[in-house]
Amino acid sequence: MFTAIDVIRAKRDGHRLTDDQIDWVVDAYTRGVVADEQMSALAMAVYLNGMDAAETARWTSAMVDSGEVLSLEVDRPTVDKHSTGGVGDKITLPLAPLVAACGAAVPQLSGRGLGHTGGTLDKLEAIPGWRAQLSVDEIQRQLSEVGAVICAATTGLAPADRKLYALRDVTATVESIPLIASSIMSKKLAEGASALVLDVKFGSGAFMKTLTDARRLADALVSIGHAHGVRTSALLTDMSVPLGRAVGNAVEVAESIEVLQGGGPSDVVELTLALAREMLAMAGLSHVDPAAVLASGQAYEVWSRMITAQGGDPTAPLPRPTHVHTVVAETDGTLSTLDAYAIGVAAWRLGAGRARKEDPVQPAAGILCHTKPGDPVRAGDPILELHTNTPEALPAALASLEGSFTIGTTAPAPRPLVVDTIRP
Ligand code: URA
Repeated sequence: MFTAIDVIRAKRDGHRLTDDQIDWVVDAYTRGVVADEQMSALAMAVYLNGMDAAETARWTSAMVDSGEVLSLEVDRPTVDKHSTGGVGDKITLPLAPLVAACGAAVPQLSGRGLGHTGGTLDKLEAIPGWRAQLSVDEIQRQLSEVGAVICAATTGLAPADRKLYALRDVTATVESIPLIASSIMSKKLAEGASALVLDVKFGSGAFMKTLTDARRLADALVSIGHAHGVRTSALLTDMSVPLGRAVGNAVEVAESIEVLQGGGPSDVVELTLALAREMLAMAGLSHVDPAAVLASGQAYEVWSRMITAQGGDPTAPLPRPTHVHTVVAETDGTLSTLDAYAIGVAAWRLGAGRARKEDPVQPAAGILCHTKPGDPVRAGDPILELHTNTPEALPAALASLEGSFTIGTTAPAPRPLVVDTIRP
């Protein structure tokens, strides 16, 4: 039998926590036996003294065991993807139907946006009629009949993480690799996919600002997946520039449909195909070429069926903003930088994101980046197009765009989008 004080003291003094200590403290916290102030102290001790790979894996198991675990039965391999979040990161939208069209089943339980990174559910809710909340039976049926489902995580998954994440948010203990990795993986493992690919982003628009930190997080995530018998790999991808040209909700849906119809910006296509290849490899389907399937139109067909199955009308016009403001180039030259974080914050201020989790989002709000680094520009050309239904938000959005792009005389050196792949 343990007490919270013993567990806190052990970690405070730099010791490893035993499996039994971890199981007890996570369970007791979920049940309200360990108080918030005690878990806050323990989270800070973990933040300062860390947890090794085995402790982190056990902590993750304890969080998975705090709630239900989905056991999805489908007659094809299941594979899931998780992104640590970025600006203009709409990749789940084309990726899930593409990988399903290639022969895997993709149960993609997603979240809403908070802060400067958008949420997949907020984006899809821009489609008239589309419904995020599905029962486990509906998820199961759609997975069997369509092959892909993107919906809200059911509340019974990893309740310990929900409670602990809210606590970390207000105790300056979010930025701890073992706590982040166990938080992400507890939700993914509870979804029950047999393989998982992580898109771990680095750069100004990402949660991890440096490649070094992103690599440490990717290593921790892959090691937890492996310890739980789930084939897991991670791509390290650049998030210093927004992905694609659209940042927001309806605008990102429109761009995803372009990709599914064979067009779209080259970086969005590149990352969609890179993640699809990795997911197919993890699912044992590496003989299928996702580029050919994308070009055939089959992924778009799965998209239409996936949206229709959740009450959406895939052919309905997407919401348009009441106000559009264009930022133009002041000089001739070449766009040398476009800062993902500044664009993410501006889109959020225009109404595409929320400050508190209960806030609504505007489906039509967002930003179109008419120019990306390396593109030539002439004075007067549009660089950014701001969309909103609340024009009073424009000054704050424009303030956050100060210095968000630069125009130089020479093209910037090309930056690779996918920097590395981490496998166990
Ligand atoms: N995302 C999560 O789900 N958990 C964290 O701790 C950080 C980001």
